[in-house]
Amino acid sequence: MIFGNANLARPGHGAGLPETDALRTSAWISRDPHAPPPEEAVDFILFEHLRHREMCTALERMAAAPAADAVEAAKLAQFIRHDLTLHILDEEELFFPLLRERCLPEDEIDAALQRMNREHAEDRELSAQVRLILLSIATEAKAPASIKGGAEALRRFAQNQRRHMMLENAVLIPLARRRLTGGDLAALGQRLAARRRLESPTSHR
Ligand SMILES: [Fe+2]
Ligand SMILES: [Fe+2]
Repeated sequence: MIFGNANLARPGHGAGLPETDALRTSAWISRDPHAPPPEEAVDFILFEHLRHREMCTALERMAAAPAADAVEAAKLAQFIRHDLTLHILDEEELFFPLLRERCLPEDEIDAALQRMNREHAEDRELSAQVRLILLSIATEAKAPASIKGGAEALRRFAQNQRRHMMLENAVLIPLARRRLTGGDLAALGQRLAARRRLESPTSHR
């Protein structure tokens, strides 16, 4: 399933929060039944970027909120911990190496991938900080503005993620469509799907 992130389908996971309608219908999680499966690798990655954009909007909304939304904060923390992390690993371990192998010198793929890898690394610390802030909101009912640097960190993370995704969509996705063979795309899709099959509801806690 595309939202194979079983934790998203298991509201409250990791935060000890009860299942609520708010969790199931949270606006930043697209539950589009027509979402592409991981086997359709490029469309799947693009669709994941859409979900990340929804995450960014939710983070910015939360940064401006006068009060804590514990349920939303727990869900965002879990999304970053699981979904975003898995996506970055997919890119670094599967997608980027394939592009590096297939692209031509004029594509200047090495420079683009160096930048993407650098941005992944640069955001790692901020991502951990954002998760801690979200967990404070979730467990201590603190408004982001009452956490030192809280609102600022949520906004900065959202901005970084948006800029990063725009570059991937504008540079890497067109190159993938142009340079990867049918066999490459099928193999990539199979590996993305296999990783998600491993993500059973009990496989990560
Ligand atoms: Fe990325
Ligand atoms: Fe990405």
